[in-house]
Amino acid sequence: MAAILGLGGYVPDRVMTNEDWSELVDTDDEWITARTGIKRRRFAADDEATVDLAAHAATKAINDAGLVADDIDEIIVATDTPEAYTPDTASFLQHRLGCREVPAYDLGGSGCAGFVQALDVARARMLLQPKRVLVVGVELISRLMSWEDRSFCVLFGDAAGATVLGPEDGQATLLDVVAGTDGSQTDILTLKTGGTRHPFNAASLASGAYHRLDMDGRRVFREAVHRMSGAVRDVLGRIDRTLEDVALVIPHQANKRILDAVQNQLDVADEQVYVNVHEYGNTGSATVPFALWEAKQNGRISAGDLVILTAFGAGFHWAAAAVQF
Ligand code: ACO
Repeated sequence: MAAILGLGGYVPDRVMTNEDWSELVDTDDEWITARTGIKRRRFAADDEATVDLAAHAATKAINDAGLVADDIDEIIVATDTPEAYTPDTASFLQHRLGCREVPAYDLGGSGCAGFVQALDVARARMLLQPKRVLVVGVELISRLMSWEDRSFCVLFGDAAGATVLGPEDGQATLLDVVAGTDGSQTDILTLKTGGTRHPFNAASLASGAYHRLDMDGRRVFREAVHRMSGAVRDVLGRIDRTLEDVALVIPHQANKRILDAVQNQLDVADEQVYVNVHEYGNTGSATVPFALWEAKQNGRISAGDLVILTAFGAGFHWAAAAVQF
């Protein structure tokens, strides 16, 4: 069994509003709100990097579980904005938290679906050997994006969320996870420069290509809605439950229009869908674990609730998890 023992979340203090963005690029609150629903987001301080955000959220999750760092047997970090190119953020995090020399690795490059995919990996690892696994979703997108491209910069924020899984009784049970990938759609959301096909060099630096995300917004929108709602239905089918049994769906918070379309596809009530994208923007692989922590904190989740997490991301990846509180 994989139980959820503890939850944690962290956002940096610095608030960046739509009005703040309108002073830097040619945009306004009306456009951003109408297209995305985002009103503000948090950005890391200059002296913060990925492992700082991850450590805050992880420490809260370990405390929430009533454990100490020494109790953690494995660490998985989902991020597309790592502490360094190599080694992975999980190695930095293991040391920062003061954990034992346990396996620690990243699930990188899978965009915003990374955390839910990591839950699937964690539960598989726990089947092999009962252990306590710390799973973190963290993103510090403000550090690696272009601050001049209005099509992207207004969408994102920085955050971290963490979950401790264990074999003993906890506050919730991870009932099942589904995940999938359509590798024929790598082109609809990609940051090409920096890999071996398009190395980082003087030319890519000069052109700004190293932080240019190629996105076919309309195709991403369509796929996101189709895949997230499909994954919710798939995971419910696997546990023999229906949408009527679901207290809360927590989708990846990319933008409000995608959330509305998912809600429409699933035909569920407003109270059944968790939305915080207006406050934090799209925080990549951190949106789902952060929202799960926040929903528990603010009383949107009670004992007995069935909660479904669902996410999509560059790849094109999707995943959904069923969690019984
Ligand atoms: N402010 C003002 N105008 C802007 C801005 C801005 N910040 N950004 C773009 N525009 C302009 C464009 O230049 C364009 O102008 P033009 O018509 O004169 O050429 C116009 O607004 C429309 O641009 P579109 O890109 O067509 O706008 P669209 O309605 O498609 O909305 C958006 C863009 C919000 C990105 C939309 O495509 C979308 O929701 N896509 C889903 C993908 C997504 O949310 N991705 C997030 C990251 S991916 C992930 O989470 C895994």
